[in-house]
Amino acid sequence: MGKLDDRIAIITGAASGIGQGMAELFAAEGATVVVADIQDEPGRALADALGGTYLHCDVTDPAAVEQLIQEAVDRHGRIDVLVNNAGIEGEQALTAESSLENWRRVMSINVDGVYYGMKYALPVMVSQKGGVILNTASTVGLNALGAIPAYSASKAGVIQLSKAVAIEYAMHGIRVNALCPSVVETPLLTSFIENTPDPESARTGLASLNPMPGMVTVDAVAKAALFLVSDDASFITAVALPIDGGYTAR
Ligand SMILES: NC(=O)c1ccc[n+]([C@@H]2O[C@H](COP(=O)([O-])OP(=O)(O)OC[C@H]3O[C@@H](n4cnc5c(N)ncnc54)[C@H](O)[C@@H]3O)[C@@H](O)[C@H]2O)c1
Repeated sequence: MGKLDDRIAIITGAASGIGQGMAELFAAEGATVVVADIQDEPGRALADALGGTYLHCDVTDPAAVEQLIQEAVDRHGRIDVLVNNAGIEGEQALTAESSLENWRRVMSINVDGVYYGMKYALPVMVSQKGGVILNTASTVGLNALGAIPAYSASKAGVIQLSKAVAIEYAMHGIRVNALCPSVVETPLLTSFIENTPDPESARTGLASLNPMPGMVTVDAVAKAALFLVSDDASFITAVALPIDGGYTAR
């Protein structure tokens, strides 16, 4: 018996990195996974491998997100789990030197996309009398990091948005939590490291950021996500859970 037997789970940004790890673990625990992304080839290959469904969805487009939710309901009849995970880090620049385009792009994917996902899934979950939402934030939403101001603000926004929605919909049996990983070795982090002036020392610095040695693994993040979306966390809502080897305690 799996922890997510017979559950329908949508995961945005599931074609790569953390989202892919969640999709694989959720499927192994019995869920039917809807892989939503803009990278069609890896997204479709993953969905096929997991016996799930791939749906192209750009989370910056509210109509596309509404259609994603509708299509998942049309195909599978319900939505038990929604993970709003798609996100970008954006450019690295001090606030005065950062571009307006970067601010808008980071906010539109990292915050607007999470809002759209919840806005369109909540009525479905209310009518089902239950559901679970998990939003991928970051430790950067708890402890700000310079030189990626839009990313820091976006992830703090995801945390407060998650808590607000958790309070609003608790009476409907809907739980909403945020996940706050620190540094996880994924394509997002690799491109962050490569864009620093000294990638070698950036990598070393990031690997020694957490009191626990090394970076967080995708597997550790996926297992924390599984806990929060499963019945094991049945009375846990409005939480921003760090997966950071103690980083935010400092
Ligand atoms: N890697 C880290 O160190 C780290 C740490 C904390 C939080 N996070 C967060 O975890 C989440 C996943 O990041 P990751 O590290 O796995 O990155 P990743 O780049 O490996 O995966 C992100 C996925 O999101 C998709 N995506 C991007 N823009 C999209 C859009 N407009 N619509 C739909 N999908 C889109 C990408 O195609 C990609 O498949 C992000 O929200 C990120 O901010 C990552």
